Amino acid sequence: MSNRGTVVAFFSHSGENYKVGTIETGNGRIIASMISRMLGVPEYEICTEKGYPDDYEECSRIAKEERESNARPSLRFPLPDITDINSMILVYPNWWGDLPMAVYTMLDSIDTNGLKIYPVCTHEDNGLAMTDRMLMLAYPDASVMKGLAIRGTAVQERSDEVEESIRKYLEKVGFSLHS
Ligand SMILES: Cc1cc2nc3c(=O)[nH]c(=O)nc-3n(C[C@H](O)[C@H](O)[C@H](O)COP(=O)(O)O)c2cc1C
Repeated sequence: MSNRGTVVAFFSHSGENYKVGTIETGNGRIIASMISRMLGVPEYEICTEKGYPDDYEECSRIAKEERESNARPSLRFPLPDITDINSMILVYPNWWGDLPMAVYTMLDSIDTNGLKIYPVCTHEDNGLAMTDRMLMLAYPDASVMKGLAIRGTAVQERSDEVEESIRKYLEKVGFSLHS
């Protein structure tokens, strides 16, 4: 399979992070750039206009409120151009067992019909949880493919292992690796 028509879209939060202390580069951002380099495809960052506080408790509170109200926070960057895109590797953290609401804002705003979505979820215990099913339910016209769960602490502490597991995953789901 050629990687043409593939984009890596990611949401990632830096600052104080669960179990890993304060980090300058979020786990998902690190993973997204690994994937983008391995496949030679572009990245798109999903980022809200307002952003989220660095403080973990405060960020958690806002994330919970947004989830409970099924919010669609507005995005800082223009939407990704998906004219020639058929596959999206979607990197996001598990936030309260769900995707950050900003990811829904992005997906609600593009044409997901026929889009293959590969969920790559960073977490600290709960893996993908039900996030792949939530994507299937929310975007029935897309094809949600087999996903990958990666522990955030592993990204910070054992990046070689993480890189290897991403490599294996990408090959398994049929991408061709560049580097
Ligand atoms: C608001 C918030 C909620 C979270 N909820 C969960 C959770 O329910 N289950 C879990 O395993 N990890 C949870 N985490 C941990 C993150 O998923 C984990 O630290 C992830 O690697 C963060 O990725 P990032 O650095 O790219 O944002 C949560 C973190 C935050 C900030």
